[in-house]
Amino acid sequence: METEGPATRRVQVSEHPRLLKLKEVFKSKFGSLPKFYVRAPGRVNIIGEHIDYCGYSVLPMAIEQDMLIAVEPVKTHTLQLANTNPLYSDFSTSANNTEIDKTKPLWHNYFLCGFKGIQEHFGLSNLPGMNCLVDGNIPPSSGLSSSSALVCCAGLATLTVLGMSLSKMKLAEICTKSEHYIGTEGGGMDQSISFLAEEGTAKLIEFSPLRATDVKLPSEAVFVIANSCVEMNKAATSHFNIRVMECRLAAKLLAKYKGLQWDKVLRLEEVQAKLGVSLEEMLLITEDALHTEPYSPEEVCRCLGISLQELRTQILSPNTQDVLIFKLCQRAKHVYSEAARVLQFKKMCEEAPDDMVPLLGELMNQSHASCRDMYECSCPELDQLVDICRKFGAPGSRLTGAGWGGCTVSIVPADKLPSFLANVHEAYYQQSARSLVPEEQRLFATKPGGGALVFLEA
Ligand code: GLA
Repeated sequence: METEGPATRRVQVSEHPRLLKLKEVFKSKFGSLPKFYVRAPGRVNIIGEHIDYCGYSVLPMAIEQDMLIAVEPVKTHTLQLANTNPLYSDFSTSANNTEIDKTKPLWHNYFLCGFKGIQEHFGLSNLPGMNCLVDGNIPPSSGLSSSSALVCCAGLATLTVLGMSLSKMKLAEICTKSEHYIGTEGGGMDQSISFLAEEGTAKLIEFSPLRATDVKLPSEAVFVIANSCVEMNKAATSHFNIRVMECRLAAKLLAKYKGLQWDKVLRLEEVQAKLGVSLEEMLLITEDALHTEPYSPEEVCRCLGISLQELRTQILSPNTQDVLIFKLCQRAKHVYSEAARVLQFKKMCEEAPDDMVPLLGELMNQSHASCRDMYECSCPELDQLVDICRKFGAPGSRLTGAGWGGCTVSIVPADKLPSFLANVHEAYYQQSARSLVPEEQRLFATKPGGGALVFLEA
């Protein structure tokens, strides 16, 4: 199972309206026909926010919405990329010279990340060219991982053109690493679920080593995604990397406080593993070791006994060099408490998920409060939206994905779904700017979908 690559399915393109349309647009764009198609889904994270890059397990499921690419390998060494969405302009480059511009998160750069990841994995210097037409239906900049889905889809397209194979695990690891070329230092949740998802089940994703275990969700509840309509592109600001750096610094200070060799430590999970204590104990240690007043870069340097120069060049990312305050205690408390909530959520789902809906909801509510107060990755619109969702019958509602905008996920008893959707629609989406967001991208129930696939025409 662990060595299996993404499945290949034979399909009658004429029976799949989206594939058929893609094929037609491809023909008018490139004057030829695609050889195959690949898809990689977006995801909704049910619980476990901002902890994957700290080494902790998360609990996402794939959504039905995905990135779909029609691919034709070509003999020239040119990569020609087009998108069915006119907002995203065509792009073309030599397959052997794929520069990724970190200063602008343009759509084609995500494709190049996946492409480059495969190229580097196999150490190839002379890559074949390809014509690609991309069609995505994951709401963009909304915390549902449209960018990672594109990276994964491009990685799978490149692998297929090369006629090579890799396990889903390996693909997830390659794409996680190569997405860092965009400049954000995300964890591996999005890429892992995009490859490892299976229809009908959420997954507990564990890291180092990567593992995915089925989590059976309650059958009498549904998960509803609601878009705050505040766009958040994590590569366009430094919010995301600041949090990654705060967690890294907190890990180093905690390790130093406990007399561990702190300079090799990067993740909060490593401190717990080295000390061999529980998450609850880590919360107590955090309160002893770190103060809640923000740390200045100078104070961090004093605590670690390093210079500002060393802090900047050896620890901080390029886009966090000038950050003036680091809230280390709050961030570490969020991470350790959220990691514990994920384990509780999974345990409840193993025991009797349908009896647990109110308790699962409570964990989601606690997660939101921690994201809002400790991690400060919410925003007023997300807070308002979770309140509305709870008011109209969701026992639990929280921001999902990176935050600072994007979507919420709510657990809703199945029998309340129609009234819930109608009421949330009425209460949140009447405002003119929000009503401009296409309806299918605003508010919808979702079920665990399947992972990345290759389609061949039957
Ligand atoms: C983004 C990152 C993920 C994860 C989430 C927050 O989606 O890509 O790795 O860190 O944010 O949970």
